[in-house]
Amino acid sequence: MPNQMTAEPLIVCENLVKIYKIADLEVVALQGLDLVVPRKEMLAIVGASGSGKTTLMNILGGLDRPSAGKVTVDEIDLLSLSDEALNEYQRTKVGFVWQQTSRNLIPYLTAEENIELPMIMSGVHNKQQRREWAHELLNSVGLFHRRHHQLIQLSGGEQQRIAIAVALANRPVLLLGDEPTGEVDSATARTIMETFSRLREELDLTIVIVSHDPRIAEQVDRVVAIRDGKIATETVRQVSQLEALMAGGASGSQEILLPSQVTYKEFVMLDSAGRLQIPKEIREELGIGKRVEMQIEDGRIIIKPVEGEGGEPLKNLTIEEQIAILFSGEKVPQRKPGSVKKLKWLRWR
Ligand SMILES: Nc1ncnc2c1ncn2[C@@H]1O[C@H](COP(=O)(O)OP(=O)(O)O)[C@@H](O)[C@H]1O
Ligand SMILES: [Mg+2]
Repeated sequence: MPNQMTAEPLIVCENLVKIYKIADLEVVALQGLDLVVPRKEMLAIVGASGSGKTTLMNILGGLDRPSAGKVTVDEIDLLSLSDEALNEYQRTKVGFVWQQTSRNLIPYLTAEENIELPMIMSGVHNKQQRREWAHELLNSVGLFHRRHHQLIQLSGGEQQRIAIAVALANRPVLLLGDEPTGEVDSATARTIMETFSRLREELDLTIVIVSHDPRIAEQVDRVVAIRDGKIATETVRQVSQLEALMAGGASGSQEILLPSQVTYKEFVMLDSAGRLQIPKEIREELGIGKRVEMQIEDGRIIIKPVEGEGGEPLKNLTIEEQIAILFSGEKVPQRKPGSVKKLKWLRWR
């Protein structure tokens, strides 16, 4: 029996692959993605358009199935579920908040009725029970006074907060937001994020939010960046030991005078086989083609382009031509070496 108190992470994705087939064309939207999300974490996913964010959210939400790999949520193996069981999972385990408010809410119903609708659809017949929970959720998102308003009478930010309440109507363990702040100004976005954060505490939720806002790091526990269908980097907030000490109750007057020390640290992720991704911009800048040289120096790994194997010239050749060149040792025109500054990106401890 899955339960809230187990130490098991809520989400485990291993080597997740999603391939879309349109006629003869195949699009690899997820290319062996690994991701673990502990219970009660508030995680943000960032990445360029087309990197696979929505594909991942749809799989986590039970709206789509992966082509290969493993994905479990609350110890449920999503790949093994029948269509019917996946539907049930979608209705009871996850709540979804979309970017377009029109997708979240029904315009001619009041805020309160919108929240009750998912409960009616999952068979909560007791009207009073429905109403009480709807009121509790309205309070949590700070909009109890707006309960009798229709969609048109609410601002964009208010509509999204009602959408969050709707997503929570069936008491899910996981709340997913696909760019829920994409259509509002930054002050409103902040209010929406604060609402997510408060609900996480109140309802012990795990929250995964796709965002385009680089400042999201301040409002979540961790940010992962997807690049070409794989997790490329993660950024975590680090609070200095002193701050942690003070939060723990230690109070010397000297310590209180010191400013708080919150820093953000970005890590490059390795996949389960130890592979890491060198971003395209850096490969192009340094003229990296199909191979690199790797050295260990002073506890660091140095990755260098191979002489005469520029990425740019190779890029215009077919795979067969590239392989022929790599195996013949034939020289291809060399690009000018990239700046030392960029190489530093790969020098981490
Ligand atoms: N239903 C679909 N059919 C075919 N290709 C799709 C479909 N959905 C997404 N894709 C493709 O998969 C890739 C990832 O898309 P998506 O997950 O929507 O990215 P993001 O949300 O990061 O912008 C893109 O190349 C996109 O064109
Ligand atoms: Mg998307």
